[in-house]
This record gives sequence, C-alpha cells and structure tokens, in this order.
Amino acid sequence: MRLAYADPPYLGQARKHYGPEAREVDHALLIAHLLEFDGWALSLSSPSISKIAPLLPEGVRWGAWVKPFASFKPGVNPAYAWEPVVFKPARTLGEDVDTARDWVRANITLRRGVSGAKPVAFCRWLFAMLGAERTDQFHDLFPGSGAVNDAWIAWVMECPLPLTPGKPVRYLEPVGSSAPPKGGNNAPGA
Ligand SMILES: C[S@@+](CC[C@H](N)C(=O)[O-])C[C@H]1O[C@@H](n2cnc3c(N)ncnc32)[C@H](O)[C@@H]1O
Repeated sequence: MRLAYADPPYLGQARKHYGPEAREVDHALLIAHLLEFDGWALSLSSPSISKIAPLLPEGVRWGAWVKPFASFKPGVNPAYAWEPVVFKPARTLGEDVDTARDWVRANITLRRGVSGAKPVAFCRWLFAMLGAERTDQFHDLFPGSGAVNDAWIAWVMECPLPLTPGKPVRYLEPVGSSAPPKGGNNAPGA
C-alpha cells in the first residue's frame, strides 16, 4: 500500500514560519494529491478547520494531537495547544491488535531547526491511524527536519515480521508508553 503524510505550513502562515521564500500551499490541490494514496493524513491548525473541511471528501476521520507543552504566547489565552489531523486509513485495524485512540498526547519539539518538527510519539500514533504495515511505501510530502521519515524507518526496522499468512502483526505502542493494564489496553477503564 502507498501511504502519504502532509504536514504543510499552517494555512496563511507559510511566510511567518518559513521565511519570505515560502509560498502558500494550495490545500485543494494538496488534498486532490493525497486522494491518490491508499492511506493518508494531513496536519492542519485548528483555526483553519472551517476553510479546509469543505475541501475534504466524505468519510475522513479527524484525530487530535494534544500538546501538554505547547508554544505559549503572551496575550494568547487560551493557548492553541492541540492540532487536528485528518486521516484516511489504508486498512481497518483488526480485533487482533489493541484499539488505537484517535488522539495522541505529546509535547512539541524544540531546537530541531524546523518549526513544527514532529515528536516520535506523534509519528508512531500516525502510523497506527493509517493502519500501516512495514511493507508499505511511506511518502512524507513536507519532510522539514526529516523526523517523520526517520520515525518511519525506525518503526519498520523494529516491526515484527508477519508470521502467519494473512495475519500481519503490528507494533502500535508509542515510545515511552507504559505497559497496558492487565487484559490489554482494550480492558474496561483502560
Ligand atoms: C510543518 S513543517 C514540516 C515539519 C516536518 N513534518 C517535521 O517533522 O520536521 C512544513 C515544511 O514545509 C516547508 N514549506 C513551506 N512552504 C512550502 C511550500 N509552499 N511547498 C513545500 N514545502 C513548503 C517548510 O520549509 C517546512 O520544512
């Protein structure tokens, strides 16, 4: 399967974050391109939801990256401390794997040289949302620091080989996550 992740500059903020040479991304064109993939995800800012939602096809899922530590700015209260991620999985996760959440809790990165560089926990959550398998092709359309592609390579390298034909094993736990409660993380109250 072919997977794509698009992490463009926030709508209307290309020059603010990426300098005078950065051009605004045409989100209608970008979404049309994403639809060519089997599974895809698009990061955006919460203020741009109303502009981008009408460009999306029916049936896409919305996830949330929630940031306990975010970019807190003077005079901005409440802070912008979460980011929507629209996604279309390449596969439905089966009952043979733990139930993934449609949100992830992870702090923003600092000093990576690129504004918006994604943390590893975010990347691993993204791969789970996409229903990724290690044999998939992964296309990072706005690589920036390269963090997402690096996380993909690390995930593929540690992902167990499918040992039973037709029953691929997926590694979905984000780095640093605690062990699931007894009975797996599908247990009531988990
Ligand atoms: C949000 S960052 C991507 C961060 C990346 N996911 C990471 O983890 O490092 C957006 C990237 O798109 C680049 N960019 C800015 N304007 C662009 C444009 N018009 N077309 C393509 N890339 C652009 C920026 O230089 C930046 O590297």
